[in-house]
Amino acid sequence: EIKAFIFDLDGVITDSAEYHFLAWKALSDELNIPFTREFNEELKGISRMDSLEKILVNGQMSGAYSEKEKVQLATRKNAHYCTLIEQITPQDILPGIKELLIDLKEHGYKIGVASVSKNAFTVLSALQLNDMFDHIVDAKKIVNSKPDPEIFLRAAEYLSVSPEDCIGIEDAAAGIESIKSAGMYAVGVGSKDILKNADIVVESTNELTLSMILEKYNRNI
Ligand code: BG6
Ligand code: MG
Repeated sequence: EIKAFIFDLDGVITDSAEYHFLAWKALSDELNIPFTREFNEELKGISRMDSLEKILVNGQMSGAYSEKEKVQLATRKNAHYCTLIEQITPQDILPGIKELLIDLKEHGYKIGVASVSKNAFTVLSALQLNDMFDHIVDAKKIVNSKPDPEIFLRAAEYLSVSPEDCIGIEDAAAGIESIKSAGMYAVGVGSKDILKNADIVVESTNELTLSMILEKYNRNI
């Protein structure tokens, strides 16, 4: 029986996935490394340092920087990102998300956030949503980035709910892998081609309603 809903943040609750894209694009331009939207899909849900490594490997530049320089590059990307997220207001909550959160609360479900972003608390504060969640996992305490199940398992643990009683909501292929390997039911937001392993995929957040999700879930079991 479903007892909890665990949300990814970037690209699910707000469109900050676009700001991550813009910030990585700015860094890649500075380094003269090609960076496309298609390649960016592979970075969604991936931690800051792992994302940088993927970008450098893709540009055949991984060997060109020392570990210390890589940390500096990641810090530069984060500075771009932090400037971009300063403009976030509660109006930037994606359509239907606030309504879904209120509905979940009214029906007594526990609600968690599982984002590997170290800026998650800042973004949620800017959206004025912190109070809606029973637990927001601290990315600093997570060792393995998505697609590893660690962050979703940790969220379930903090909510005192077993993984099979959780529904995870994600916009990234790596995030869907993380949810599925945690043994949870996976709801994808985005393209079916990219989110192949999700149990349900919707194109837009405004399709995410409690009744629709539960209806599909009950049909599957
Ligand atoms: C994830 C994003 O939520 O957080 C990734 O999907 C991002 O794109 C990752 O790299 C880490 O974020 P941050 O804010 O710690 O650099
Ligand atoms: Mg995401």
